[in-house]
Amino acid sequence: MADEVGFAVVGLGMGKHHCRSIISGKGAKLIAICDLDEERLSKGKEDYNCRTYVSFDEMLNDPEIACVNIAVPSGMHSDMGIQAIEAGKHIIVEKPADIKPEKIDLLREAGEKKGVKIGCIFQARLDPLNIAGRDAIQGGRRGRLIGIRGHLPW
Ligand SMILES: NC(=O)c1ccc[n+]([C@@H]2O[C@H](COP(=O)([O-])OP(=O)(O)OC[C@H]3O[C@@H](n4cnc5c(N)ncnc54)[C@H](O)[C@@H]3O)[C@@H](O)[C@H]2O)c1
Repeated sequence: MADEVGFAVVGLGMGKHHCRSIISGKGAKLIAICDLDEERLSKGKEDYNCRTYVSFDEMLNDPEIACVNIAVPSGMHSDMGIQAIEAGKHIIVEKPADIKPEKIDLLREAGEKKGVKIGCIFQARLDPLNIAGRDAIQGGRRGRLIGIRGHLPW
């Protein structure tokens, strides 16, 4: 593997956090950003000094990009993910991977077929509170689960 993995980020809402993580990450280099919104794109260019693309298709032709982070609106992740996989890229998708489970299966299958890596953002999955909640459910301490009402006091 190359010393540095070339990343690109599509979708510059939540995608800005991806850009910052890539820039601060060891062994990672932000090669390009992509967004339909020209304002977000030019602000991104100012902040990250990398290549910019309005067209996702064009960005996928960039040979320096090994991994594409997909942070467009929910429901678009697996379609764009499959497109990136078919272009030979590894991908990281924002959650939810898709809004239809069958499309998540297609995404996974495309990655397996092409031999690339797929990651989905679940940044709170190792939070001790979430693990305790999962253990309580899986251990049956809450009985048979039929629904959840939750509050997230961020
Ligand atoms: N991990 C988390 O905690 C977390 C938090 C918030 C949002 N999200 C997820 O992040 C994703 C994005 O949410 P958001 O709030 O940043 O949305 P957003 O609408 O602010 O940003 C999405 C961006 O994608 C761009 N876009 C849309 N279609 C495009 C295309 N074809 N090509 C290029 N750019 C395109 C839009 O112009 C927009 O700038 C959602 O799936 C959401 O669920 C995750």
